[in-house]
Amino acid sequence: MISDTLKNPLSMFDVRGKSAVITGASGAFGRGCALMLASLGVDLTLASGSKAELDEVVAEVKSLGGKVQVVYRRPDTLEDAEAMLKTGLDAYGKVDQLIVASGYNKAGFIHEQSYEEWQNVMDANVRGEYLMAKAVGTYWLAQKIKGKMLMMSSVRGRHGNISGYTGYCASKGATDALTRVLATEWAKHGITVNSIGPTVFRSKLTAWMYSDDELGQATRARSLSRIPLGRLAEVEDLMGMALYLLAPASDFCTGQVIYVDGGFTAG
Ligand SMILES: NC(=O)c1ccc[n+]([C@@H]2O[C@H](COP(=O)([O-])OP(=O)(O)OC[C@H]3O[C@@H](n4cnc5c(N)ncnc54)[C@H](OP(=O)(O)O)[C@@H]3O)[C@@H](O)[C@H]2O)c1
Repeated sequence: MISDTLKNPLSMFDVRGKSAVITGASGAFGRGCALMLASLGVDLTLASGSKAELDEVVAEVKSLGGKVQVVYRRPDTLEDAEAMLKTGLDAYGKVDQLIVASGYNKAGFIHEQSYEEWQNVMDANVRGEYLMAKAVGTYWLAQKIKGKMLMMSSVRGRHGNISGYTGYCASKGATDALTRVLATEWAKHGITVNSIGPTVFRSKLTAWMYSDDELGQATRARSLSRIPLGRLAEVEDLMGMALYLLAPASDFCTGQVIYVDGGFTAG
């Protein structure tokens, strides 16, 4: 007997009618997820601290016919995280997917960078993930919802970097650990938690690496020498994996940091 899934494989990627909260939705990855999910019929709650930039994404979502709510906040406190959850619940009655796409880097060598700057990177990357997981996960457990959480790691969670990345590498290593521990803690509830680990894709964070000035060219050349597929990424390169990790197709995949990195971690 042939199962329904094998007769209709695209049903594994059917996310219509789901409700997603996305932090950092003004950024490249957050916007990419928002537009992809809107196109697939997911109802959105988008959060970001930059009103003008978020409003542009909201207009794009609406141009695709998507339903969207906004919260002009970053996940700096538990109240921020709970406000995002509440906005989604008030509008759609449920939240099924959580995408933490907010993040930040400020490079600096340890002997030069202040402790406060290091802490800002840790807070932007790890505290936000923890607070969002706490707010939304608590709701999922109470309501017995088999939610899907997606975080953004990096090859820098696994590899060091010569450019002053104590904050960024340590924060992404913590993302990897959080991915595994939340996945195991919530597995018995059917909740999945996974992360994507990119090398470099075009965004506000990395715009300088795509520039033709001396620093951009030198850094790009160094990165490309380590990427077997021979190019830096665009956000669209990550969307297939993002959809997989948010769709029923990934119901038996949890606790994974999946590298979408042009082969960087293979070499
Ligand atoms: N681009 C890459 O090559 C790359 C590679 C590996 C991993 N990543 C990770 O992917 C995620 C998304 O990044 P992106 O490349 O899409 O960058 P992006 O375009 O700069 O977007 C980052 C988002 O995070 C928010 N943000 C900025 N500073 C923040 C802070 N201090 N606290 C909380 N939120 C802050 C911004 O929103 P508001 O300022 O509007 O609040 C923005 O929407 C990040 O975790 C990043 O580390 C990126």
